Amino acid sequence: MSAPATHRREIPTARATGLPPGRVSFRGDQIRFLERAAAEHGDIFRFRLLGAPVIVLNNPDHIHQVLVGHRHRYDKEVMLYRLVRPVLRQGLITNPGGAFYLRQRRMMQPAFRPAAIRQFTAGMTEETQRMLDRWDTTLRPGQSADLSQEFSELALHIVTRTLFSAQVGDTARRFAAAFTEANDILGRFFRFPFPPLSVPTPEHLRLRRAIRRMDECVSAFVHRAEEPGGRIDLLSILRHAVDESDGRGMDLEQLHHEVLNIVVGAYETTTNAMAWTFYVLAGQPEIEAALHEELTTVLGGRPPTFEDLPRAPYARRIVEETLRMYSPAWQFMRRAREEDTIDGYRIPAQANIYINSYLLHRHPGYWDDPAVFDPGRFAPERLTDRQRRAYMPFGAGERVCIGQHFALMELQLVLMAIAQRHRFTRPPGQAPIVPRPLTTLHPGSGVTLRVWPRARAAGKDPA
Ligand code: HEM
Repeated sequence: MSAPATHRREIPTARATGLPPGRVSFRGDQIRFLERAAAEHGDIFRFRLLGAPVIVLNNPDHIHQVLVGHRHRYDKEVMLYRLVRPVLRQGLITNPGGAFYLRQRRMMQPAFRPAAIRQFTAGMTEETQRMLDRWDTTLRPGQSADLSQEFSELALHIVTRTLFSAQVGDTARRFAAAFTEANDILGRFFRFPFPPLSVPTPEHLRLRRAIRRMDECVSAFVHRAEEPGGRIDLLSILRHAVDESDGRGMDLEQLHHEVLNIVVGAYETTTNAMAWTFYVLAGQPEIEAALHEELTTVLGGRPPTFEDLPRAPYARRIVEETLRMYSPAWQFMRRAREEDTIDGYRIPAQANIYINSYLLHRHPGYWDDPAVFDPGRFAPERLTDRQRRAYMPFGAGERVCIGQHFALMELQLVLMAIAQRHRFTRPPGQAPIVPRPLTTLHPGSGVTLRVWPRARAAGKDPA
């Protein structure tokens, strides 16, 4: 492993005055812009976005200072979250931080522990099997399928089933349709956040209507969670969660906001992770073959369960490597509530701090051959402590993704269930898919692959 590109400097005791280098204005392709600026200025630099100064951190120690060590000096009162608060209201994702945030997080955390998520893993596999059964009747061997669309539906089915015990009922269907519409409109808004959402353009009015429909569905689910003898789902667990300090829970309105935030946190991130995983596998037959070998040994033909997760480490490493190279939540921000010093540079109060895991996960100072997809790098004997610190697909510190265990279990189970029954090839002449940096990191305009039932594909190269 080569030395890091820049070394951590001692934090001077005297008040630092210099701002980080670089006063570039952001323009053009966002990823290329960040790569060029990091190559020119190093692991800490600043640029301007919509007239506001933004400080980029690309050294794990500096990032940990903001997210962990000095976390009290930073919050999430940044433009990005202010813009979506009217829509998503104030749940964990959009909450700026402080006592109310900590109380909500404390209350909700137990519902997201691995032991609690375990009860939902059978539903994750069942939803995947249901999709595969449909493929059996609708896809000819070798037919191309729009996997981004398939995974978008699968991810939404899994999260609505886990949260609301809702399978394909009417309310779940209405919720999914309204959510997809709101999510699309919000995605477009983020690319060009003008005029503000409060201006009643036809698109913004559609967004409001979609949100009203989502609200009605969530209310129906929340009321159902009130019924005695109702089913156990994540929503009913959160409904009865209490804060240990006073034994009180959250009111229905707050529960409602948290539910919206959970769906937003869970949906696009996992959809994109699934699409990237199978896109990469389709181009790496030897990695796909090693996975098939593991699945044959571990599963021997039956669907995967929670107990199989630790028995299939190669599948887990494929997920981890996908999240390194194509980190779906590839950027997040903080605001400095008060002045700080990072690496000897002055971070003024109100400064926006920008963390980009795509840059960090491909930093040549931490990763050998960062552009090579190599699941073996996550084998415990190969992964160094430095790399562990430089790997943060779920963020770090007290605001680390609450759904990280949910996501890792889901992604591994979905990978195992699908790869057990199908293999994939890229359509002839398909151009390489490049990341499309939207709110989350999308694979170009989507992943389309040829799908081969494994029994039929065995023994001959379907491509
Ligand atoms: C591959 C999948 C996922 C990735 C890469 C991901 C990534 C992240 C990241 C980086 C953050 C922290 C953002 C920050 O510090 O500003 C976050 C927060 C969050 N995520 Fe995830 N996430 C994923 C899946 C999920 C799932 C499945 C759920 C829910 C079931 C979820 C719910 C949330 C929530 C509620 C927050 C806010 C947590 C807080 O601030 O307390 N995420 N996620």
